[in-house]
Amino acid sequence: MNILIIGSGGREHALAWKIAQSALVDQVWSAPGSAAMDRIGPCFDVPADDVEGLEKLALQLEPDLIVVGPEAPLAAGLGDRLRARGFDVFGPNKEPAQLEASKGFAKDLMARFDVPTAAYGRFTDPNAAKDFLTTLSAPYVLKADGLAAGKGVVIADTLEQAQAEADAMLSGKFGDASAELVIEEFMPGEEASVFVLTDGVNRLTLPACQDHKRLLDGDEGPNTGGMGAYCPAPVMTPALMADVDETIAAPMLEGLAEAGHPYKGVLYIGLMITPEGPKVVEFNVRFGDPECQALMAALQDDIVPALLACATGGMPARDFESLMPRLSEAKPAATVVLATKGYPGAYEKGSVIKGVKAAGALDGVTVFHAGTGVDQDGEWTASGGRVLSITAAGATLGDAIDRAYAGVDQIDWPEGVHRRDIGWRALKAD
Ligand code: AMP
Ligand code: GLY
Repeated sequence: MNILIIGSGGREHALAWKIAQSALVDQVWSAPGSAAMDRIGPCFDVPADDVEGLEKLALQLEPDLIVVGPEAPLAAGLGDRLRARGFDVFGPNKEPAQLEASKGFAKDLMARFDVPTAAYGRFTDPNAAKDFLTTLSAPYVLKADGLAAGKGVVIADTLEQAQAEADAMLSGKFGDASAELVIEEFMPGEEASVFVLTDGVNRLTLPACQDHKRLLDGDEGPNTGGMGAYCPAPVMTPALMADVDETIAAPMLEGLAEAGHPYKGVLYIGLMITPEGPKVVEFNVRFGDPECQALMAALQDDIVPALLACATGGMPARDFESLMPRLSEAKPAATVVLATKGYPGAYEKGSVIKGVKAAGALDGVTVFHAGTGVDQDGEWTASGGRVLSITAAGATLGDAIDRAYAGVDQIDWPEGVHRRDIGWRALKAD
């Protein structure tokens, strides 16, 4: 079969790499893909947010399965359009994709289905927002309602800062995305990312991951899209995983199906493990990046049958469940993100990166590209904020992390930055 992947980042490179290993797959196509993904299969120059262009491309290529990497095209209705044309799509339709596109929508649904999450309010009026803040205690959590590329959350230490932030956000700090605000109670605890594959009726939970969102070692510095991740995350014990399935995944997915919006794809549950148990920080409607890179390296089995089952739907429960033991088998894996100096703020593009081949040649190491190009001399160059995800599987998590860093140390790129402590929480827990 032929599979079309939508997207161009490290997550999509990892998906393409994993999917290409399947005995079921002939061709892996990507749109727009990247110089690195082009080495796996042909790339087509249609941007991931060009919903109409992607529909045309699908009609031309007639893929057997379309896997949508990023959230933006899903929120814009790519899933609905492609399904209307008869394609099997891994990724939810527009309505359930609002779980990520509108934090207020997600909070209201959680309230409706009694899913554990932080107490909240939704605001468009700055005075109402500021009044609500006075009823909370520090620290204060303010979120732009809409998609803000992972940057729309501000945690303020004082009431004064929080109120100033509410004003700034409601007057367009994040453009249209912050025309509405969600203000919520702060949840203390450790975070984890849980990925649930579902066809709208059946569900299958993949091994949990942990991401490192802050730029600097020790989880300091500004929030980023993610500077590294590992899988499985030992903090998610079997008991906690069962709790998440029962109190979060089941009510959300069953509730959506009952409301006539079955969810087909992967539901990303961003969790806080609070003293009262796991609570939802956010939902995303796609795999995490860089969690996906670690996850794809960790999974020992072919993922294509599960992706296809989710997209097609209608598989008998017993057959769907039979995919489970194969996919819950995971080898510990870790990924370290190399970003351009300046990220998550302004950064320069075009610097040359050496050592990519040497890193990838190490045993167990795979280099996923999140933002690279190739110059006239055939050298890899940086073309984004997050640029490479050096990923490794190993016998233990410690081994996987050591291998990933051995890969990182092969990279010669003076303009790059990375964290040296990916996985520290899990290693400390050992
Ligand atoms: P989000 O984009 O909603 O995942 O938020 C980005 C980051 O902000 C999360 O990964 C958490 O580290 C933090 N965060 C968001 N909401 C809360 C909350 N209610 N309590 C504590 N931390 C939060
Ligand atoms: N790594 C966090 C995310 O993908 O949203």
